[in-house]
Order: sequence, then C-alpha cells, then structure tokens
Amino acid sequence: MQQFKNLSICLISLLCGLTIGGSPSVQIGGLFPRGADQEYSAFRIGMVQFGTAEFRLTPHIDNLEVANSFAVTNCFCSQFSRGVYAIFGFYDKKSVNTITSFCGTLHVSFITPSFPLDGNQQFIIQMRPDIKGPLLSLIEYYKWDKFAYLYDSDRGLTTLQVVLDTAAEKKWQVTAINVGNMKDDRKDEAYRSLFQDLENKKERRVILDCEQDKVKDIMEQVITIGRHVKGYHYIIANLGFVDGDLSKIQYGGANVSGFQIVDFDDPLVSKFDQRWEALEEKEYPGADNKIRYTSALTYDAVQVMTEAFRYLHKQRIDISRRANNGDCLANPAVPWAQGVEIERALKQVRVDGLTGNIQFDQYGKRVNYTVNVMELKSNGPVKIGYWNEVDKMVVTKSDLFPNDTMGLENKTVIVTTILEAPYVMLKKNADLFVDNERYEGYCVDLAAEIAKHCGFKYQLKIVGDGKYGARDAETKIWNGMVGDSF
Ligand SMILES: *[C@@H]1O[C@H](CO)[C@@H](O)[C@H](O)[C@H]1NC(C)=O
Ligand SMILES: *[C@@H]1O[C@H](CO)[C@@H](O)[C@H](O)[C@H]1NC(C)=O
Ligand SMILES: *[C@@H]1O[C@H](CO)[C@@H](O)[C@H](O)[C@H]1NC(C)=O
Ligand SMILES: *[C@@H]1O[C@H](CO)[C@@H](O)[C@H](O)[C@H]1NC(C)=O
Repeated sequence: MQQFKNLSICLISLLCGLTIGGSPSVQIGGLFPRGADQEYSAFRIGMVQFGTAEFRLTPHIDNLEVANSFAVTNCFCSQFSRGVYAIFGFYDKKSVNTITSFCGTLHVSFITPSFPLDGNQQFIIQMRPDIKGPLLSLIEYYKWDKFAYLYDSDRGLTTLQVVLDTAAEKKWQVTAINVGNMKDDRKDEAYRSLFQDLENKKERRVILDCEQDKVKDIMEQVITIGRHVKGYHYIIANLGFVDGDLSKIQYGGANVSGFQIVDFDDPLVSKFDQRWEALEEKEYPGADNKIRYTSALTYDAVQVMTEAFRYLHKQRIDISRRANNGDCLANPAVPWAQGVEIERALKQVRVDGLTGNIQFDQYGKRVNYTVNVMELKSNGPVKIGYWNEVDKMVVTKSDLFPNDTMGLENKTVIVTTILEAPYVMLKKNADLFVDNERYEGYCVDLAAEIAKHCGFKYQLKIVGDGKYGARDAETKIWNGMVGDSF
C-alpha cells in the first residue's frame, strides 16, 4: 500500500505533464467516456506500473460522451494540436467513423478496448479479441440449431452478421432481436414481454450479445418471470463472464455459458489482482470491484503503448512532430510523416498481459489469443475449456452441467416449511433443544434422510406467513416455502 501511495505522487506529476529528471516523455492522448471510472483507474495504474525513470508516457485525458461525434471531433482535434503521439480511447457506433477517418487521414494511431471492427482499417490498434470464433464454436459444441439471438446494436453488427451467415449455411433457425434500443424506464416491462414472446415460440435457448450491464438488466427480468430454471439455456456473448453478478441465477437451474478473457488463475493476473485489491477506492474509483475485462484491456493497452515507444526511442527513430502544424481540419490534410513508423511499432508489440498473449496482425487486430469457455455451476462460474484459433474449442472439463445434488456437499441448505401436524411440529419440550432438534414429524424425518443420503447439511426454518408458497399476483415474486429455499 505504502508503495502505491508513493507511486501515485509520481502519477500526479505525470498528469500535470512534468518530466521528471529530464527523462524522455512521450505525450499521448486519452478519450474516456463518462462512467468509465474503473477503466480510467486501470489506465492510471498502468502508467505507474510501466513507466520507468528512463522512459515514460505523459497522458492528456479528456472525459466525454463518446456517442456525440461533435464532442469526439473536438477532443480529438485539440489533442492532436497539442502534439500527442498516439491516442488511447473508446468509441461507439456513432463515433467510430469519425475516429477511423481522422486516424486514417492524419496517420495518428488509436489504441482501443472498444468492440472490434471489421474491414482493414489502418491506424486502429484493437485490444479486444474477436468473439465470433469462440461463439460459433460454442453454438456447435452445444449442437444448437434453433435459438434466439438478442443483440445490442450499439456494439456494432459484425457478430450478428456472422451468426446469420452461418445460420443460413447450416440451416439454423435464428430469431434475431435488437435490444440496443431498450433504454427508457419501460425497459423492464419490454424485456419481460420479449421473453414472454420467446416462451410462446418455445425459444428456450438464448444468446445475449451485449455487455454485462445490459445482461444484468435482462437477467433480472428473466428471474422475475421464472425463466432462469431448468430447461433454459443462455449464452452470454462477451468476454467478461465473471464480471457480472451471477449469484442470483446460479441456483435457478438454467444452463448459463459464456467467455472469459482475463484468467484469474494465471499467475500474472493474480499478482496484479493482489495489488489491485490493495488500492484505495477513494483514489482509484472501481478498485473495490474485481477488474472487468474492459479495464484489463485498458491496462494492457498502456503496456503496448509503452513497449512501442520505448522501442522507437531505443532505436533512435525520429518520431518528432516536426513539419506538422497540428491542425486536424487543415485542407488539404497534412498527415504526420512519422505516423506510419509509430503504427508499425505498435503492431509489432508482443507481450503477456492481463488478457493473455498480446499480438496483432497487420491490421491491428488481436491474433493468437486464448479465450476461456465458462459455465455457471451451482458453486459459481467454472472454466470448462478454452478456445484459440488453432485448436478451436478444447473441452477440458466434460462433466457439463451438474447433477442436482452436486455442489450441495458441505453446504447448508435452508429447508423452509410451516408448522402443520403431522408433518412438522414443535416438540413439546422444544425449549431443551436447538435448531433442527426442536422439530419432529414426517417431513422432519424425511429431510434428515435426504440430507444424509445426499451429503448436505440443512437447517429447518419456519416461514412467517403460514402459506405454502404462491406467486404474488402483483410482484410476481414467490413467497412462502418455495421462495425461501436457498
Ligand atoms: C442444459 O445442460 C444439460 C447438460 O448438458 C443438457 O442435458 C440440457 O439439455 C441443457 N438444457 C438446455 C435447455 O439446453
Ligand atoms: C502464439 O503465442 C504463444 C504464446 O502464448 C507463442 O509461444 C507462439 O509462438 C505464438 N504463435 C505465433 C504463430 O506467433
Ligand atoms: C450424475 O448422475 C449420474 C446418474 O444419475 C451419475 O452416473 C454421475 O456420476 C453423476 N455425476 C456427477 C458428477 O456426480
Ligand atoms: C467437504 O468437507 C470435507 C471435510 O471438511 C472435505 O474433505 C471434502 O473435500 C469437502 N467436499 C467438498 C466437495 O468440498
């Protein structure tokens, strides 16, 4: 902790653009969307970790609305005129074209953890590995030929496109639904009626191609209408399976699968995780939660930029911004002569990061990466295998979804009931006993037998309202015996 405090003092000087002891410093830009607090904390920690006395990056940060392409243009141009050597940042569907066209015209590299782009753009370094390959492999692994595909159009449509193309080729029956436009305060209702429609069509296999915050909103509604139980299967199509809180669906019985790019069992990641946990939330917002995959990609991006500029510096390659007046709207455009050299150096970086082996192809897309394939079990998310470009999907743990009693071992199950003779009765001398011993009756004996047979502990709990459990017509929440289980 002490160490981090000292380092963060350095960081403050860094952010003010001071160069300490005359060490070479390369100015880079940063475009962070509002609300990307954890990503920004990861960026700052990356600056601390990868900077050295001989060499460091000096960031200029802007906070903005990335959906507003006017704001994006403004920030991009002001950073460019300040003389930054590369820009780290995020885009969305509305600003991606602005950014790619500025970068292509001015020869400025943009390093991003945002959704990967199709096509062969120059000057875009894409930290996020593509999910298409792992997703298609998983669909085939489960032998799905009929499913619903819920996608968030704000993340682009390239994954949808590939799924639909494959569906046409393999004669899969896919119901594709855009959930990107469900944002207002009536979205909960919209999700419930969407899943009601799917139920009517007997669509019980669903792919959720959206980020965790949307997955969370959707799953909450899925739970309220009881579609999180046995017989349903959800594949979450992003790279942060463990980022969301899955504990609410964990016991429902539905199959839930997904992908994880940050492997917390990797020694490099667990070492980082220890440092991360020691950070003060006040100073590093978001540090109270485990690092999300987009923050991990941000941290890795700092390492990639540091490596590239350190290499250029070592090779004494001149990357100065001479002969460039920094006007991004100049007509005709004045591309930066050394921009190509920088782009080449960025794409050549090969390092180990929080997201595994980091390596790019000639178009700045991640290659040679590994994604873990996950399933949700009653004891939490479990890695069942991995995917890479060469081996495709490799299953390392084949006991698929658990038997009902698996995972109950060594756990205490709350068995709720009401007092009703002859099933459950309070013993006449109940005061002399504690816990389960206070009750007797047919159900009490049965519970003891089942628990012994299946190897779990249990605790009898008498429910308050005296009903056996019914769904409240208003709130759609189970009460009584059923709702209290687990
Ligand atoms: C859930 O997984 C189990 C075990 O693999 C499988 O038998 C079952 O069909 C799956 N359920 C759905 C709805 O796909
Ligand atoms: C892919 O990455 C591994 C390290 O994860 C490395 O050993 C291997 O050489 C790489 N393959 C290629 C073709 O670059
Ligand atoms: C699940 O149950 C089947 C039969 O009911 C049994 O053969 C199998 O070993 C069980 N699997 C696990 C992991 O307990
Ligand atoms: C349950 O507890 C026993 C003893 O504490 C231990 O040996 C066993 O491995 C545990 N089983 C599981 C599934 O955690």
